Amino acid sequence: MVHTIADTGSAKRAAELRTALSRQAYQYYVLDAPEVPDATYDAMFRELQALEAAHPELQTPDSPTLRVGGRVLDGFAPVRHAVPMLSIRTETDTTAGGATAFDERVRRELELPPDAPPVLYNAELKFDGLAINLRYEAGVLVQATTRGDGETGEDVTQNIRTVGAIPLRLRGDAPALLEVRGELYMRRDRFERLNERQREKGEKTFVNPRNAAAGAVRQLDPAIAAQRPLSFYAYGLGAVQGWPLLADEAATHSGVLDALADFGVPVCADRAVVSGAAGLLGFHEAMGSKRDALPFDIDGVVYKVNSLALQRRLGFVTREPRWAVAHKYPAQEQPTRLNAIDIQVGRTGKLTPVAKLEPVFVGGTTVSNATLHNLFELRRKGVRVGDTVIVRRAGDVIPEVVGRMPGERPDYVPNFRMPKACPVCGSRVLREKGGIDHRCTGGLFCGAQRKQAILHFAGRRAMDVEGLGDKLVDQLVDSGLIRTLPELYTLGVAKLAALDRMAEKSAANLVAGLEASKSTTLARFLYALGIRHVGEATARDLALHFGGMDRVMDASVDELLEVDDVGPVVAQSIHTFFEQPHNREVVEQLRAAGIHWPEHEGRAAATAALPLTGKTLVLTGTLPGLSRDEAKARIEAAGGKVAGSVSKKTHWVVAGAEAGSKLDKARELGLAILDEAGLLALLQSPP
Ligand code: IVH
Repeated sequence: MVHTIADTGSAKRAAELRTALSRQAYQYYVLDAPEVPDATYDAMFRELQALEAAHPELQTPDSPTLRVGGRVLDGFAPVRHAVPMLSIRTETDTTAGGATAFDERVRRELELPPDAPPVLYNAELKFDGLAINLRYEAGVLVQATTRGDGETGEDVTQNIRTVGAIPLRLRGDAPALLEVRGELYMRRDRFERLNERQREKGEKTFVNPRNAAAGAVRQLDPAIAAQRPLSFYAYGLGAVQGWPLLADEAATHSGVLDALADFGVPVCADRAVVSGAAGLLGFHEAMGSKRDALPFDIDGVVYKVNSLALQRRLGFVTREPRWAVAHKYPAQEQPTRLNAIDIQVGRTGKLTPVAKLEPVFVGGTTVSNATLHNLFELRRKGVRVGDTVIVRRAGDVIPEVVGRMPGERPDYVPNFRMPKACPVCGSRVLREKGGIDHRCTGGLFCGAQRKQAILHFAGRRAMDVEGLGDKLVDQLVDSGLIRTLPELYTLGVAKLAALDRMAEKSAANLVAGLEASKSTTLARFLYALGIRHVGEATARDLALHFGGMDRVMDASVDELLEVDDVGPVVAQSIHTFFEQPHNREVVEQLRAAGIHWPEHEGRAAATAALPLTGKTLVLTGTLPGLSRDEAKARIEAAGGKVAGSVSKKTHWVVAGAEAGSKLDKARELGLAILDEAGLLALLQSPP
């Protein structure tokens, strides 16, 4: 690349972009109130990247472009902390006693007489992540270090710069030197999603958000760290120079946190200045009830004497301040015995191994079942029946087994195996090549998949049964009225009206909706069956290729592979589906119930028989009598294709009211343009 010395215009623009981007990062990560769409942010970001690439001298240490991660490191340099990073005493008594004991101790150390007014405390959350020291010089982040042994930590600046919530430059009038200390953590939802991704890739999952956060910070490749969604909350200070606020005798810890928030540093809103032991207890209880609803893990609360002058008077014992204490909550991870491993079949047919546990109190409830996710996770964790395992239950996330405690086990315990037949319906259980999950192939027949199958079948893009939604499907299945899809078509008004809240009129509507759905297309019907990997497009390709239902059902894997866009995984899935006698039976019963569609003999034989075979149409604007979906279905039933954009290859453009740029383009290219009547005529025309 040729580097040129930046002109003042580029320098000015780069500065503008940096300011705008850092404002938006603050709005997004700290205030959770983005002001511009992601695309605008991305465009500004790319513009700055391009400017800096052309003029490297324009890059500053607070440039947001540093957030994407730099070169791969070969290790982390040790850094001696300017002020040691201490830990706090933990009050293990999780009941009220924990708070009163601390307040009494503080009063004693301060030699307060019994009638002295209550001490003011700042009560905050004890975040379950890892401590980090952020060093800002003249407002710019210059170094980030882990706690290490408290005296010496490691330089993880590159990785920390990728954390969106951490400002690269402080807002406002920053002190000459400000070390901000706080907790780096991962939100529970981000952690779950990260593990889900790892599981899909067949890669190692993380035990809990804390381990995931610690792993991300110690990533040698900052680009990988950048993909691990970390968050940060400040809770204190390290070395500071030139900050008048601290010189004030009346300065408080809560005042420091407010000031940090003003500098644009994330500070958790769940904090309060409280009075005496009663105030501490109130906070402990309030946060205890809120714990599950918080988006991140906490393992307790922290009480700190609020006055900085009193903190100085109290001082330290060895490595712990006398002015602070952590008051714990019951743990979210507990050991217990694994009694058995069961299999649960989910709505989509996925088989999940479930740990049957010796009941254990964890995360506020008694847990006796926990997920083991899939066979690979189970194997990786190496758990076997009889082991002592660690169970985690945090927030409203389903409890899971995160690992086993090391220890002896009798060697006769066999390793767990997945069943060959679905425990619910007896259909074959299969795992796709290279896939992680085992699935029941029973599909429509399997009781566990019933509700999902019915909802999908009735969906707008499938059989389009009007009046059959979530709640009604729950009722129909739970009341035992419907066990199989074909039974839907045997529902009479009388049976339906007996259901709760199912007034006669809506019962009649549903029956009419079912009746209307009987006349459909082969493509819709194939899609409605809910065969794994068969989406709308594949269903259309299958219908077009084979022309008739029986030919699809009897197709070999090789024959299926001849269909456009059908690869080995899809072909196998279709073949296995129709190999199950139950699924064929369901198809037969649906046909017997009166579901029908125009059949032809497939692409090879029937090409000439359809009016629009080989033709591509584009729809634009609103037609007076046909919805977009209807028009599309009619065209496809007539052998045509509907494309999303106009090109020279388009045969006709069908334009309705308020047609837009597609119509202009069609005119430009001199294409044939039809209105609805023209389309209808075309559909009727001889091929
Ligand atoms: S204050 C001198 N406040 O808990 C006091 N620590 O042993 C220094 N932690 O690993 C710590 N939330 O990272 C403080 N609100 C909070 C905290 C907190 C979590 C962690 C901290 C350290 C441990 C303290």
